[in-house]
Amino acid sequence: MHGQPGEWLRVTAEVPARAVPGVPIPGRPKPGWQSPDAERRRDGSRSSLVADVLTEVIAARTAQTGQPSLDIVDVGAGTGGFAVSLASAGHRVTVVDPSPDALAAARWRAAEAGVSLTDVQGEAADLTSLVGTASADLVICHSVLEYVDSPAAALAAVAQVLRPGGTVSVLAANTVAAVLQRALAGRYAEARALLPGEGERHEEPAAQGARAARRFTLPELTALIAGAGLRVGDAHGIRIFSGLLPGAGADLTTADALHELEEAAATCPPLRDIAARLHILGIAVPGK
Ligand SMILES: C[S@@+](CC[C@H](N)C(=O)[O-])C[C@H]1O[C@@H](n2cnc3c(N)ncnc32)[C@H](O)[C@@H]1O
Repeated sequence: MHGQPGEWLRVTAEVPARAVPGVPIPGRPKPGWQSPDAERRRDGSRSSLVADVLTEVIAARTAQTGQPSLDIVDVGAGTGGFAVSLASAGHRVTVVDPSPDALAAARWRAAEAGVSLTDVQGEAADLTSLVGTASADLVICHSVLEYVDSPAAALAAVAQVLRPGGTVSVLAANTVAAVLQRALAGRYAEARALLPGEGERHEEPAAQGARAARRFTLPELTALIAGAGLRVGDAHGIRIFSGLLPGAGADLTTADALHELEEAAATCPPLRDIAARLHILGIAVPGK
């Protein structure tokens, strides 16, 4: 059941949360975990902008290789929203996640969509032994660096599994946005505690059971990608204004204008750099 090129993000399947133990139940989110569908509903700009960028990356890679189907690894895939969309577009997709519940949900989602995924339980840092060196045209690493033990080790492993000319798509929470959000809410001490250099992990006041999550500035993400031996590609800010204005976009009469503003500002450096989430590409340089 494969779609047309470029249609991959339109193919989605809702997974009933109760079908899979450990997967968040609507209205009762598990701390530190956000399903892709939930995030998409909350954030139309994320889905379209990141998907648009990846559609271009995939088109360039298929043109470069002459192969319409790519080998794609979604590391920390969660319930596999992106992965199933990509598999539905005809790509060979491997999902890697340490959580058996997440993998079960991804399998369920794939079965619903009538596509197959390869699922592997494991951690980002072990990617080379899990999927093989130089085995992927594209690695998706969305909302995962926040949780791994060592972002540098995770990206080094990602770099190893990319084929020359392959790309990693990194999406991560932005420290700057978290500081601004708290300061604008009058939570000055919390804002200050989140400033870069004020702590190894910039964490919410411990929600019960939540694993400490990191945030990154754009220079930090850029340095991590370069440090893994990858060429730093385009960077986009996701949810610049809607990240600062709770409820922005809820008004349907202005939602389209906000969406257009978000997309136009996404590559405008001073605004991009304060977005709630940062999206950045890393490219495996041939011959390295
Ligand atoms: C916030 S979810 C993101 C899911 C999905 N990538 C997305 O964008 O919606 C974080 C995921 O990272 C996984 N994860 C946590 N630690 C990991 C690690 N060391 N290596 C790979 N994945 C990890 C979690 O199990 C979870 O599925």
